[in-house]
Amino acid sequence: MNNKTAFFDAHASSWDIREVDDIADRLERVVSLSGISCGANVLDVGTGTGVLIPYILLKIGPNGGVLAIDISSEMLRQAKLKGFPDQVKLAVMDIHQTPFDSEHFDCVFCNAVFPHFEDKVGALREIARVLRPGGTVIISHPIGREAVNRIHQTAGGEVGEDRIPSNVDIVKWLSESGLNHSEVIDEPDFHLIRATKD
Ligand SMILES: C[S@@+](CC[C@H](N)C(=O)[O-])C[C@H]1O[C@@H](n2cnc3c(N)ncnc32)[C@H](O)[C@@H]1O
Repeated sequence: MNNKTAFFDAHASSWDIREVDDIADRLERVVSLSGISCGANVLDVGTGTGVLIPYILLKIGPNGGVLAIDISSEMLRQAKLKGFPDQVKLAVMDIHQTPFDSEHFDCVFCNAVFPHFEDKVGALREIARVLRPGGTVIISHPIGREAVNRIHQTAGGEVGEDRIPSNVDIVKWLSESGLNHSEVIDEPDFHLIRATKD
């Protein structure tokens, strides 16, 4: 078991009430910047309570699919309560090692999860493996770098040391994993890196 599972299990039931007031606009921006369109096959890594899923569904329409994974079964239990349509599948899974076929997804979202990966390069290699050529990965923090790092520091425990790495490091690791053409947005209240598989 990932040693952060217990932390996220414990916070699952109260997770959604922590969101900032304009989170809907920020999540819509994250999904829009991915460029996904109707029929896309999407992996949502660390979906938590599934906050990003409604915005993904708006873009992919009824013929697309979402595989939403998380190490925390309690987070997924909260997501399941939201009653997503059948095109959304939820699975307990760690991104560091997945059973998916190679080149399976059009887009992989890592929304508010990247700092928690134990092996960031290993996770990016796995994401690159499951992405189809031309597919997109999004690493996003819709409340911005400083707020995320402060929240983790304040929370302490298993996530106390989790930080968003420098953009330079993330772009380098993406490139080493075969994920290139990176675009970086690092605003005070919004952070996002987008890269494409060659
Ligand atoms: C800060 S929450 C964000 C949840 C959601 N993406 C959101 O934006 O609200 C991070 C989530 O990622 C999950 N997680 C952490 N490490 C993971 C990993 N290696 N693989 C899959 N999920 C992971 C946690 O269990 C938690 O639910």
